[in-house]
Formats: sequence, C-alpha cells, structure tokens
Amino acid sequence: MDQKRILLIVGGGVAAYKALELTRLLRKAGVAVRPILTAAGAQFVTPLSLSALAEDKVYSELFSLTDEAEMGHIELSRSADLVVVAPATADLMAKAANGLANDLASTALLATDKPVLMAPAMNVRMWQAAATRRNLSALMADGVRFVGPDEGAMACGEFGPGRLAEPPAILEAILALLAGGARPLAGRRAIVTAGPTVEAIDPVRMLTNRSSGKQGYAIAGALAALGAEVTLVSGPTALAAPAGVQRIDVESARDMLAACEAALPAEIAVCVAAVADWRPAEAGGRKIKKGAKAPDAIALVENPDILDALSKSRRRPHLVVGFAAETNDLDANAKAKLARKGCDWIVANDVSVAGTMGGDDNAVAIVTKAGVERWERLPKGEVARRLAQRIADEFA
Ligand code: C5P
Repeated sequence: MDQKRILLIVGGGVAAYKALELTRLLRKAGVAVRPILTAAGAQFVTPLSLSALAEDKVYSELFSLTDEAEMGHIELSRSADLVVVAPATADLMAKAANGLANDLASTALLATDKPVLMAPAMNVRMWQAAATRRNLSALMADGVRFVGPDEGAMACGEFGPGRLAEPPAILEAILALLAGGARPLAGRRAIVTAGPTVEAIDPVRMLTNRSSGKQGYAIAGALAALGAEVTLVSGPTALAAPAGVQRIDVESARDMLAACEAALPAEIAVCVAAVADWRPAEAGGRKIKKGAKAPDAIALVENPDILDALSKSRRRPHLVVGFAAETNDLDANAKAKLARKGCDWIVANDVSVAGTMGGDDNAVAIVTKAGVERWERLPKGEVARRLAQRIADEFA
C-alpha cells in the first residue's frame, strides 16, 4: 500500500475521536494521510493529535494564505487517491449532496476528481430523517461509497443506526477501494431474510418471537456495500432498511417464502430470519371471544422451512447460508443442520450467552463441510462485514 494517499476529512461529532484511531491504523498499513479538520471536528479532536498521528499537517482554513501558497485547495482535493469522510455528519452529507462549498471540507468534496468514501455518524433520528435519506440516495447516485453506520447505543442516549463504523471496518473499506476491488459482488443478486415472522391466531392475536432483525439487516447492508443487489425480506422490525437495499415487508412464514421465491433467481441467499416453526391451523376471520372457560388448545401446523426450500429449489442460489441459534452442542447441531437443510454454510451462534438475542454483539462460528471456523465476539455490524467479505471471497 506504499505511496497510496488519502485525504481524510474529519467532521464534527463525538465519534471524531475514532478518526484518530483510523489514522493510526492507516499509517500502520502504509497509507499516507492528509487530514482536513472541520471547525466542528476541531471541537472534538485537536489538530495536534491528528497531525501527530497523520505525520502531516492538518488543513482547516479555506482562505489561508500559507496553505494556498503551499498547496492550493483544489490541488489538495486531488492530491490523494481517495477522499474519506469520517465521521461524515448529516451536515457534511447535505453539503456534498447539494454541491455546497462554503468551507475547506465541502470545497474539497466538490472539487475532487477522486473516489469518495463516507462513514456516517449521527443521531438515529437524523440518520432516518427524510432529508438525510434523500441526501444519501443522491450521494450514492453520484458514486459516493459508504461504510456503516452501525447500529447501537449512541452518545446522545438514543439507540439505533447512526454509530460510526469501527475503525478496522473503515480501514478495510479504504484498503478495498485503494486496491480497486471495492465492489466484488457487483452484478450479483442476494436475498436476505431477517426479523421475526408473525402468525395470526385470529385477527388480533398472534404468535411471534423476539428477533430484532439487527444481524440480518447488517448483513443486507454489508452485502450491498460490496456491490450486491440485495432484496431484504423482513418480518416486522423497528429498523430502517440499510442504504441501497430493497426491503420487502412480510408477516407470516408463508409470505416470507413467497417473497423469497419471487426474488429468485439470485446467486446468494442468507437466511437470518427467526421463522416461526409452527402456525395456528386455523386463523379464523373472527376474534376468539372471551368465554366462561379458556378456549381449547390452539392446534398448530408446520410452517414451510425457507432455508430448506431455497437450498433444494430448482433455482437454488449458488451459495445458501443459514443461521443456527443454539444453546448447547453448537458444532454438532450446526453440522446436523447443514446436512439436513442442504445449505452451504451455517453461521452458528450461542444464544445461551446473555445479550446475544437483541444485543449488539455476536460470537459466531462458521460451519461448512470443510470444518468449523470460530470468530471472536464482535459487534453485529462487524460480523456482517466479515461474512459479506467471506461471501465475496467465495465468488472471487
Ligand atoms: O431449524 P432452525 O430453525 O434452527 O434453523 C435456523 C435456520 O433456518 C435459520 O437460517 C432460519 O432463518 C432458517 N429457517 C427458515 N425457515 C423456517 C425455519 C428456519 O428459513 N421455517
């Protein structure tokens, strides 16, 4: 990676401290870093820290006589192989989406002729706001690449998507872009199932489960970030669809299967949804009335198994990945599942570990016919990125 240069624009936000770690990692990887620190960014990290870690001067003024004498701001925007914005605030995204250029960072973004990678970080409501969605679409249409944001607890006390991706993940995205192979899954179609399913007992009651959908959404986003055309077939969740992903909302297992089949052909299927194994045999059109005694037992019938159906489909995707949430005998159960369902990989996770279901972290093992590969405990976003990269390697 010697000689590769990035222009790192550090925006304002609590996550700006992670830009320091990113800078350190980039230098360690042999990448030259020339930093631009916005006025807001300078409220969170000092020019001195950034400069020391980057081993370069920090630029922050648009109208600086010394800087212009040294290197004009237009040249600054083009002196790198890649422009990285981390953290990319809602404000920086809005400026770049609309071509505003009223400070050094926005001017550099408008003037550059190099690829741009943004790592957004903002409050969850700001990330989900209609204006940010519009700006995101516009930037993506302009060819800007994105890494993250992750989902999780935020400094503002809220929870959801909006956390800056972890520095190692941003580094990975940068190195991939610098290597020119940033979109290894371009042109490949992927189906991802996520969230719970809902099975009606009557018009007002239902059988469902506690799946949050986080891991599946993160995987859909990570595959899209590598260029895949992703259809996310999702049960009801409280999550926003990741950038660049087409979401199809379903409720029951049967609807989920139908939506998956409608999304075929695809080269990749990742079944992350917590599909109800059973559904009430009769979900009448009328509400079951409260009577003097409890109603008779609810008769259940088996639901279709989507992973099984896709694995054995006539139009089977080239790579079918299932998940297995187990509380005991993880490897043995995952291997048995691999054989029974006919998929290629099982991502096994131990849900007996407190905080896995609905939590932010996941410790998984990838079980294939070749063996078991155990990953350390990682944020779900990082599990997703590694899995997407492993999927891309499979197609390389
Ligand atoms: O058999 P088990 O439910 O443990 O298998 C889990 C895997 O199978 C997950 O990948 C899940 O998404 C998938 N599955 C499915 N349809 C079902 C049940 C499970 O796709 N009806």
